[in-house]
Amino acid sequence: MICVKSEEEIALLRAPNAIVRDCLKFVGERIRAGMTTKDVDTLVHDFITASGAVPSCLGYCGYPASACVSVNEEVVHGIPGDRVLAEGDIVSVDLCAYRNGFHGDAARTFCIGKVSEEKQRLVRVTEECFFRAIEGLKAGTPLFDIGYKVQQYAESNGFSVIRSYTGHGIGREMHEDPSVPNFGRKGTGVRLQAGTVLCIEPMIAAGSWRVRVLDDGWTAVTVDGRPAAHYENAVVIREDGVEILTL
Ligand code: MF3
Ligand code: CO
Repeated sequence: MICVKSEEEIALLRAPNAIVRDCLKFVGERIRAGMTTKDVDTLVHDFITASGAVPSCLGYCGYPASACVSVNEEVVHGIPGDRVLAEGDIVSVDLCAYRNGFHGDAARTFCIGKVSEEKQRLVRVTEECFFRAIEGLKAGTPLFDIGYKVQQYAESNGFSVIRSYTGHGIGREMHEDPSVPNFGRKGTGVRLQAGTVLCIEPMIAAGSWRVRVLDDGWTAVTVDGRPAAHYENAVVIREDGVEILTL
């Protein structure tokens, strides 16, 4: 069941989402070659707690960190650890914060130093997939138009869309209905109502969309070992468009 938010609830959602936005900016200004993924997690943990919020990922279904830090062939849910970031890597940082009784959630993919043309294009196209998806999105839009637009744009650029992870609703829970796939048929799915809050999060692979989960139980990697990128924002569906909470 999709929980449509009141204006009061949307007002409460602004703080955790603004903390996530600011934290991603903070990380983007500091992430560099030589840091471990655990160092990135420490930046995130300390920023969120210093902001008076709780890192929602920490302990979620047993997840052991405050951020998901996924490098190159890692698609999502990379557990921070000893992996050292190197020039040429692309690193997706996905994080959630809880405050006011509500969650915020967003992700960015950062380039470490100079990265290959293909990775640069992958990161750019993944971001552009999000902006394509919100073009014309407003109350009354069929849910799967979002995925349709992401898939069209990703595939027209020669990339593929991850199938086994999706966007989601967000609110008092980090993951609420509906599931928001990054693929779909135009004109299908429920018509979104004003006040619905969604995390739209294209996860795009340079090669095949097939993924597997490592023995750590979390880290999703591409089966072909080629890179993937991730970009996510939380948005409110309005009568005449969307309001982005994490930009
Ligand atoms: N931030 C992720 C999302 O976009 C959720 C990560 S769950 C975790 O939905 F436990 F892996 F952190
Ligand atoms: Co999310």
